[in-house]
Amino acid sequence: AATNRYEAESAPAVCDGWVASNHAGYSGSGFCDSTNAVGATVQFTANAPAAGTATLAIRYANGTTANRSADVAVNGSLVQAGLGFEGTGAWTTWVTRSLTVQLAAGANTVRLAATTASGLANIDYLEV
Ligand code: GCU
Repeated sequence: AATNRYEAESAPAVCDGWVASNHAGYSGSGFCDSTNAVGATVQFTANAPAAGTATLAIRYANGTTANRSADVAVNGSLVQAGLGFEGTGAWTTWVTRSLTVQLAAGANTVRLAATTASGLANIDYLEV
């Protein structure tokens, strides 16, 4: 099936923090620079043509050396605790972290919630 990209800086995504564009290499018009706190979130709404298994690809940058792990919830249910968003070497170095989840037909919320006081990595987009 075709891949759809959902930018973190554009509705229907919700960025708990700031939409920023101060580190090059992002897709679209910017990225989500979340609040530096446990529980800081970015939430995407992703459409699936049918219920079933899907690969989520989350593009991010983390210019620190600390893992900015996040809990991942789909439609409000935790599906992955502490997914790793390790340092990428620079805020301008963007990489993709993937995971496999079950989606419902139609609109699905995909939410990342920071598990460390540093908040989330800078989040560029979700692809499904
Ligand atoms: C810097 C950087 C931000 C980043 C922040 C952080 O301020 O410019 O892009 O989000 O550090 O540590 O969260």
